[in-house]
Amino acid sequence: MKTEQILVTSGAQQALFLITQCLLAPFDAIAIEAPSYFYSLSLFQSAGLRIFALPMDEEGVKTEELKQLYHKHRIKMVFVNPTFQNPTGRVMSEARRLEFVQTCSELHIPIVEDDPFGPLTYKSGQSITPLKKLDEENVLYIGSLSKVLGSTTRIGFLVGPVAVVRRLAAARQEMDFGLSIFPQVLANQVLSRKAYKTHIQNLHVILMERAKTLTDALTTYAPEILFEKPVGGFHLWVELPLETIQKSDFDALLREKLLVVPGYLFGVKENKIRLSFAQINQDMAVAAAKILQAFYEGLSK
Ligand SMILES: Cc1ncc(COP(=O)(O)O)c(C=O)c1O
Repeated sequence: MKTEQILVTSGAQQALFLITQCLLAPFDAIAIEAPSYFYSLSLFQSAGLRIFALPMDEEGVKTEELKQLYHKHRIKMVFVNPTFQNPTGRVMSEARRLEFVQTCSELHIPIVEDDPFGPLTYKSGQSITPLKKLDEENVLYIGSLSKVLGSTTRIGFLVGPVAVVRRLAAARQEMDFGLSIFPQVLANQVLSRKAYKTHIQNLHVILMERAKTLTDALTTYAPEILFEKPVGGFHLWVELPLETIQKSDFDALLREKLLVVPGYLFGVKENKIRLSFAQINQDMAVAAAKILQAFYEGLSK
C-alpha cells in the first residue's frame, strides 16, 4: 500500500462524513446493513441520500437482497461493518465476504468497509480477511483508534484509491485546514511502541472475560433471554422473549438504571436490544440480568 492511499481523519466518523458529502450526491441511493450502527447517524440524511436497508443473517449481509435493491433503486454505494459488527457483534463469514465483493464488483457498487472493531478479536491468532484485501480497487477501508485507545483520541484513517483520497483530502482541507498534530503524535507514539501489542492482547483478554461475565449472568438469571455469543468487540445483541418493544419499555429499564440501546435505533423493528459489556463487572452484569428478567416477567403477566 502507498502512503498516498491513506488519509488520516478525525475518527471513523469524519471518514464517513467525507465519503457521503464528497463522493455521493443528494438523492443517490445507498444500502446499509440492517441492523447497523449507521442508522444512529444523521450524516446520511444530511447528505440527502436515499437509504435502503440491506438485511443480514448470521453470515453477514445477504447478497441476493443487494442485487434486488440494485435493480430497483440503482444503489450507488454500500456501507458495511463486517467485523464484530455494531450492534450484533457478528463477523461476516469468509464465503460471504467473497460472494459480497464479487457481487459488488459485478454491479459496480463501491463498498465502504467500516472496521473500528477489527483489532478486537478474542481469539489470539484469529485471522479475518478484510474486504479491502479481497478487492483492493472497489473497497474504501475505514479504521479507527477509538476502540483501542478511547473515542476521545479522535483519530482514524481511510484507505482508498489515490484519486479518491486526494479528493477527500482536498475537501477536508477546506473544512478544517488539516488534522490537529496532537492526536497524530499520540497515535505515532502509541503505535510505534512494543507495548501496543501487549495492550491489544490485554484488551482481548479483558473483553473476553467481560463478555463471559455478562453472558453467564444472563444464562443464570434471565434464562429465556436469547443472545448471540460474542467473538470480539463490545456488544451483545439480545432478543427479548416479547412480541414487540415500545419506547416506554426502554424508559422503564432506564428508570431501573439499565441503559440499553433499542433495536429500532439500529433500523430493525424486532424485539432486540444491544447491551455493551466493555465497562461491565460481575455485580453490574448480575444486576442487569435481574432487571431484564424482572422487566420481562412484569410485561408477560
Ligand atoms: C461501527 C462504527 N463505526 C464508526 C464509529 C465511529 O468511530 P470514531 O470514534 O472513530 O469516529 C463507531 C463508534 O462507535 C462505530 O461503532
